[in-house]
Amino acid sequence: MNIAVVGTGYVGLVAGTGLSSFGLNVTCVDINKDKIGLLNSGRLPIYEPQLNDLVKNNVRDGRLKFSSDIIGAIKKNDVIFIAVGTPPNGDGSTNLSYVENVARTIGENLNADKLVVNKSTVPVGTAGHIKKIIERHSNKDYFVDVASNPEFLREGAAVRDFFHPDRIVLGTDSERALSILMDIYRPLYLIETPFIKTTVRTAELIKYAANSFLAAKISFINEMANICDKTGANVTDLSKALGLDGRIGNKFLHAGIGFGGSCFPKDVRSLVRQSENMGYDFQIGKAVLSVNSNQVKYAFNKISAAFDNDINNKTIAFLGISFKPETDDVRESPAIYLAKSLIEKGAKIKVYDPKALENAKNDLAAAQTAENVYDAAMHADAIILATEWNQFRHLDLPHIKRIMDGDLFFDFRNVYPKNKVTDAGFKYFAIGR
Ligand code: UGA
Repeated sequence: MNIAVVGTGYVGLVAGTGLSSFGLNVTCVDINKDKIGLLNSGRLPIYEPQLNDLVKNNVRDGRLKFSSDIIGAIKKNDVIFIAVGTPPNGDGSTNLSYVENVARTIGENLNADKLVVNKSTVPVGTAGHIKKIIERHSNKDYFVDVASNPEFLREGAAVRDFFHPDRIVLGTDSERALSILMDIYRPLYLIETPFIKTTVRTAELIKYAANSFLAAKISFINEMANICDKTGANVTDLSKALGLDGRIGNKFLHAGIGFGGSCFPKDVRSLVRQSENMGYDFQIGKAVLSVNSNQVKYAFNKISAAFDNDINNKTIAFLGISFKPETDDVRESPAIYLAKSLIEKGAKIKVYDPKALENAKNDLAAAQTAENVYDAAMHADAIILATEWNQFRHLDLPHIKRIMDGDLFFDFRNVYPKNKVTDAGFKYFAIGR
């Protein structure tokens, strides 16, 4: 089977590469010629564990191609996955212009019956909207199905998630579309991945519901952590006890400075907005967002209080700036929001991150970047563990304390046992412990 994947962001690149590993012929296309050039020269536009080798192997075996010729790819392939960006508009609604452009191009170049599969996260009803656009721009000689197949992969674990998904959601009202999709995903069917076959609209909503629920778990545990701070309880023990209840589950109960990334904040905002448009008040969604933005302020207040409310000219070292470990992505990173709020109050920020320094440059032009953890800590008044990269889990704390000017350690991802940090001579601050 020949497949075109339009969009080579996280979703398109991982899905396209993964599908080619299933033995399908895949052409990944993108209007961004620089990206395609990079991919054709054997490099990736993003950092994602395992992806590089997988791309190389499939390109070598001739199953995976990269091209900027979208029209050619539409004409040559019978199945077209849409995986372009759906960035937020200023009011929280979803910008569908990239998806709509792809739909129009498909319509204008329709030369056979096609199955269009939408993987981009889009508001409920978008598949129907895409179908109308395609039909409006084509001469209607051919038949087009538009199915929804939302993607649940996590950055940093995307390849693993593609090959071992918790479930595959297929939203379509067409038997023909369903049988093609089942054929595409047959290798996962064989390893007993659960398949949810449902309506297009349900599939579209499942994606928002999953992200909103996970975001709600994080905001919930962050509020519990703040209550722990007030009561002297310990959120790590509390979270473990909650997680052992099978009805609750132990994932996404890690307290910190809030969730970020290109998905949770945008998708919860979008579902709040979609609901508003339908005359429904998605109250939990709104609370999740407000708790999340307060969590950065909460962390800021902890730092400010530790400096007796005067952080002007204080040097503060950040360990980690990506929105989570194992990614170079800094979109909506709570660490960036925190660093910016400290810079606004006159603090001098030094940042070290294993992968994300380049991407953080624009946001943190006023900050100094460091070569490694110890370079960041040198002469700092305080150190903040803001993203829990594995390499920050076994730091030489006594050495760090010796080279710093101050003694404040903010473990904002609750990585260290308190005594390990205080034994090194630090004053220790965590979230909810
Ligand atoms: C998220 C979902 O987990 C994926 O299933 C989904 O496919 C993806 O969004 C998407 O919609 O494309 P991702 O944004 O890569 O994936 O990141 P997560 O691992 O979910 O983490 C999101 C944020 O929550 C990070 O900032 C992380 O630090 C934070 N988090 C996560 C916590 O603060 N506590 C936790 O316990 C877990």
